[in-house]
Amino acid sequence: MSDHLRVLVTGAGGMLAHDLVPALRTAGHVVTAMGRDDLDVTDPDVCTAAAVGHDLVVNCAAWTRVDDAESHEQEAFAVNAVGAANVARGAADAGARLAHLSTDYVFDGQSTIPYAAEHPPSPRSAYGRTKLAGEWAVRALCANSWVVRTAWLYGAGGPNFVTTMLRLAGERDTLEVVDDQLGQPTWTRDLADLIVRMIAADAPAGIYHGTSSDETTWHGLARAVLEARGLDPERVRPTTTDAFPRPAPRPAYSVLSHATLEVAGVTPIRDWRSALAEYLQS
Ligand SMILES: NC(=O)c1ccc[n+]([C@@H]2O[C@H](COP(=O)([O-])OP(=O)(O)OC[C@H]3O[C@@H](n4cnc5c(N)ncnc54)[C@H](OP(=O)(O)O)[C@@H]3O)[C@@H](O)[C@H]2O)c1
Repeated sequence: MSDHLRVLVTGAGGMLAHDLVPALRTAGHVVTAMGRDDLDVTDPDVCTAAAVGHDLVVNCAAWTRVDDAESHEQEAFAVNAVGAANVARGAADAGARLAHLSTDYVFDGQSTIPYAAEHPPSPRSAYGRTKLAGEWAVRALCANSWVVRTAWLYGAGGPNFVTTMLRLAGERDTLEVVDDQLGQPTWTRDLADLIVRMIAADAPAGIYHGTSSDETTWHGLARAVLEARGLDPERVRPTTTDAFPRPAPRPAYSVLSHATLEVAGVTPIRDWRSALAEYLQS
């Protein structure tokens, strides 16, 4: 592949695409960014036509409302599974590689050691089921594909936990935040850079985990957010998942292994603390 690719990004109005499109352009790639109004992934003909003339398609389009998916699984499936299949078929027909974004929710959250890319998936939520079906569709329909699972994303391009904590810290004396879910807070700019580095490394087809290094709980993340802004982290009080029942079950353990990146010669994303500090200064 040449150094400068023609890249189609779907779901261009979303949080990840907000940082991915400029990162790809900075790396010298020629990007077609298409939001939902221009490219609805539930339309197979539109997906096939859009992929023509591209070397790489990055599928950022997704139904991401995890709790709503419990009561609207068919609608979520139409985007996360059928939509992924449409994009994959379009990419394969165009002779393009596909980078498809997926999630830690494909796992059951019961592990105590980081999930390997090849660990058997066992989603516990409707969102997770639809995203897993999307992974299978992508791998079946586009052999030249990367499934890039991410988790706990935050960034300038969308509402997210970090900005919510800063807003709440301005409104309340104390914040109750769950301390019994472990994960890897991941800045969209770091994930965008990872995808750029995977392109540069010409990483082989397969499943990769695009999350920060090290781990924390939501409570640990909230404390770090307040601390970075010079606020008292003791204002964040630990609570449990049971105290905040939600329609979709949350994985207790969402730490993902980066071994397949290392095997491909791609450096995994840095420690979440250093990313958070830079995000809060940007
Ligand atoms: N955010 C996280 O913490 C997280 C965690 C794990 C995995 N992921 C995965 O990472 C990827 C990017 O997530 P994100 O946070 O950037 O999500 P996002 O901000 O919700 O972006 C998804 C985009 O897809 C668009 N979309 C929805 N239905 C579509 C359709 N039928 N055709 C075309 N576009 C459609 C959405 O448009 P509308 O807004 O108009 O619906 C939105 O702009 C997704 O695959 C997601 O599953 C995210």
